[in-house]
Amino acid sequence: MDKLRIEGGARLKGRIAISGAKNAALPLMATSLMAQTPLILENLPELADTACMAELLDHLGISSHREGQTVTFSPCSAPVTHAPYDIVRKMRASVLVLGPLLARFGEARVSLPGGCAIGTRPVDIHIMAMKALGARVELEDGYVLATAPDGLKGGEVTFPVVSVGATENALMAAVLAEGTSTLINAAREPEITDLAECLNAMGAKITGHGSSAITVEGVRSLDGCRHAVVADRIEAGTFALAAAMTEGDVTLTDCRPRHLEALITVLRETGALVEATENSLRVQGQGRPKPVDITTEPYPGFATDLQAQFMAMMCIADGVSEISETIFENRFMHVPELVRMGADIQVSGGLARVTGVDQLLGAQVMATDLRASVSLVQAGLVANGTTIISRVYHLDRGYDRLEDKLSACGARITRERG
Ligand code: EPZ
Repeated sequence: MDKLRIEGGARLKGRIAISGAKNAALPLMATSLMAQTPLILENLPELADTACMAELLDHLGISSHREGQTVTFSPCSAPVTHAPYDIVRKMRASVLVLGPLLARFGEARVSLPGGCAIGTRPVDIHIMAMKALGARVELEDGYVLATAPDGLKGGEVTFPVVSVGATENALMAAVLAEGTSTLINAAREPEITDLAECLNAMGAKITGHGSSAITVEGVRSLDGCRHAVVADRIEAGTFALAAAMTEGDVTLTDCRPRHLEALITVLRETGALVEATENSLRVQGQGRPKPVDITTEPYPGFATDLQAQFMAMMCIADGVSEISETIFENRFMHVPELVRMGADIQVSGGLARVTGVDQLLGAQVMATDLRASVSLVQAGLVANGTTIISRVYHLDRGYDRLEDKLSACGARITRERG
C-alpha cells in the first residue's frame, strides 16, 4: 500500500487548477444507463471512485472510453440490471444506479452498499423514494430488489432528512416516470443542480433544482448529451484551507467560489485574505489562524466534507474552537491521528473541542476515510518534522494527483509506492 511522506514547514505558493467534482461525476455517470445514445462527460476526474463506477457500468452494459478528461459512455444492446456485492461494496455511491435502472428497465437488483468508516450509511430513504414513485421494493440476501413492471408513476416524495444520494436517485427515477413528481425537502447541493442540468440536456423536464422543492415532468425517453462536470467545491475548499494554514498564497482556478460561500466566510473569520472571482479564488494566510466555531449542515451550510480539513487548521489556531458534526454519526476518525501529531482535541458525541497548539509534530499516521486522510496531509504540511501517512488509497478515491498539485506549490511531499 502506498504511503505519503511530508516534510513540514513549506508555505504553499502558486496556482492550482481544480478538477471536476467527484460527487457530481458519480451520479452523472449513472445517467448513462438512462440514455438511448452515448453520453459524453467532460472534466471527469480520474479517481478511484470514478474508475469503480465505470467498472460497475461496464458490468451493467455501458462501455466507456476516456480521452484525457473527456469520457464517452455508450449503451449496449444487452443491458444487465444486477449490481453485484463485490463491486458495490467497494463504493457506496454504487447505489446511484438504482433509480436509473428502475426508470429505464423497470427492474433493479442492487446490493446493499454496507457502511463505511464515517457511519452505517443506510439507504432506507432511497427505498422510500422508489416506493413513492410506484416501485415494489424488497430486501433479500443483502440486495435491494426493485420492480416497476408497468413503469414508475409520478408522485410526491417527501424526504424525512436531507439526503444527497436519495435526492439524486429520486430525481433520476422521476425523469422517466409517467406524470409529474415533486421532491420535497430535496438536497440543494451544487452537484444536484449539475445532475439536473445534464438530465435536462438529455431531454428531461426538471425545474426547481437547487431549491428544496424540485418538480419533474416525466418524459418517455432520454438521449445522450455532452456535459462538463461542475468544479469540485470540496477539493477547492481543501486547498483553500491548506493555503491559509501554511500562511501561503495560492490561487485556485477553474473553480466556483459561489459554491463555497460558507467556507469563505469562515476563512475570513480566521484572518485569512480571500479574493473571489466567478471562477477563481485567491487565499492568503495572515499569521496564526484565529479560532472559529462551525456546525456542519446540508448545503448551503458548512459542508461536512470540509469538517476534517477545517479541524486540521484549528489544531494550530490561536485559541479554542468547537466543531459540531451533525450529518454523520462517526466523522471524527481523524481526531486520534491528529492527536498523535500533538493536537489537543476533546470529543464528546458530535462535538469536538479543539485547543490550538503552537506546533504540530510530524508522526506516522493512518488514513481512515477520504476526507480524514487529507486532513492529515494538511497537518503534515505545517508539522515540525516528517509525517508518513499510510493507507493513502483512501485519498486516491477523491483527489486527482493531490501530491503533484501540492508539490507544484512548494510542498515537500512524495509518494512511496508500497
Ligand atoms: C453524499 O453522500 C456525498 N457522497 C458525501 O460525500 C457527503 O458527505 C454527503 O452526501 C453529505 O453531503 C456522494 O455524493 C457520492 P446523504 P450520501 O444521503 O448521499 C442519512 C465524500 O467525502 N441517510 O446526504 O450518502 C445518512 O446516514 C462523501 O465525498 C439515511 O439515514 O449522504 C447521513 O446521516 C462522504 N438514510 C445523512 O442522511 C438514507 O437512505 C446525509 O446523508 C440516506 C442517508
